[in-house]
Amino acid sequence: MTAPVAPEADWEKAPGLLDGAKELTLGPEECDLAYWFTSVAQGTLRDRGATGHHADALTPDFLKNPGPLREALVLEFGFRALAEELATRLLGHYVSRAPGIPEMEFYATQLIDEARHARVFRQHLVDLGVPQKTLLAEIDAMARDYRARVLDPVVDFTLDIVRDQGDFAGGVAVFAIIIEGVLAPAAELSERKWTPLSPATGEISRGTAIDEIRHLTVASTILRDHVRAHPEYEPRLLEILRSGVRLWDEIPDREFVIHREELFQQGMHAHADLIGDYEVWPGVKLLDTTAEQRYDMAEQWTDEMAEVRMAYMGLPLGVLSSEGGA
Ligand SMILES: [Fe+2]
Ligand SMILES: [Fe+2]
Repeated sequence: MTAPVAPEADWEKAPGLLDGAKELTLGPEECDLAYWFTSVAQGTLRDRGATGHHADALTPDFLKNPGPLREALVLEFGFRALAEELATRLLGHYVSRAPGIPEMEFYATQLIDEARHARVFRQHLVDLGVPQKTLLAEIDAMARDYRARVLDPVVDFTLDIVRDQGDFAGGVAVFAIIIEGVLAPAAELSERKWTPLSPATGEISRGTAIDEIRHLTVASTILRDHVRAHPEYEPRLLEILRSGVRLWDEIPDREFVIHREELFQQGMHAHADLIGDYEVWPGVKLLDTTAEQRYDMAEQWTDEMAEVRMAYMGLPLGVLSSEGGA
């Protein structure tokens, strides 16, 4: 008999990323190494371990030919592959700094999750026709500017807190609230917009979103419990969050996202027959949206998710607004 898979990690039963991150409450004690092997490796990833998608979920030929849609997808998955690689490397510090076994085991699993995400995003570019031999060099070249202007400042900020200052809880806050709190809604948008166009792409995104629910919710529980046990830590936590928000405000991520959303925009109209009446969010057809509207919706999801998660942690939401109020 096979061990039961937790519903939130079950491919068929897991909620969407936004709903899951808003409604579920998971902690490091339940999401330990045994959970990961049973519910993730043998659950979420069953039949999808190698590529992140089922063998029956194909990449359409039109995404293998030059054009704006292919370019949008190559840029998106190339950038995300690099971001996930840097996340993996950062998480090594979380494993070594974890205060107890539950946190150590959980971050060991998250480290593997992010390394897997980097791999499946990267390898999807090979499905799109990027030669395996030049894959790493091509990602390096296409993402050089993005890395220097967006990713490196975030990595340096995080390293200062978790590695140099040895502040594990502060590091958890930066990763889950500042980094993944912003990237998760972008990932949700990605899943929704690629699903009608490419089954393989949609499944890769879906699998990473299921993992992301766990990353967001477990980190929130770690922080909630830390602040409960150490109320004197809260002012420092809020100061870290304010600096994180200031940093994010200075980083030019919008221009990179809008550029690829505009390429997607050109491409989706060329394949309007595949998209049809598909709704990207309730009541709104994907074909009726603009690049700006999709970007704004991801921002709105970021705010909605933050509201629920900050309340769960007992932290004031105002600290996340650009004005940095409390
Ligand atoms: Fe990830
Ligand atoms: Fe993650």
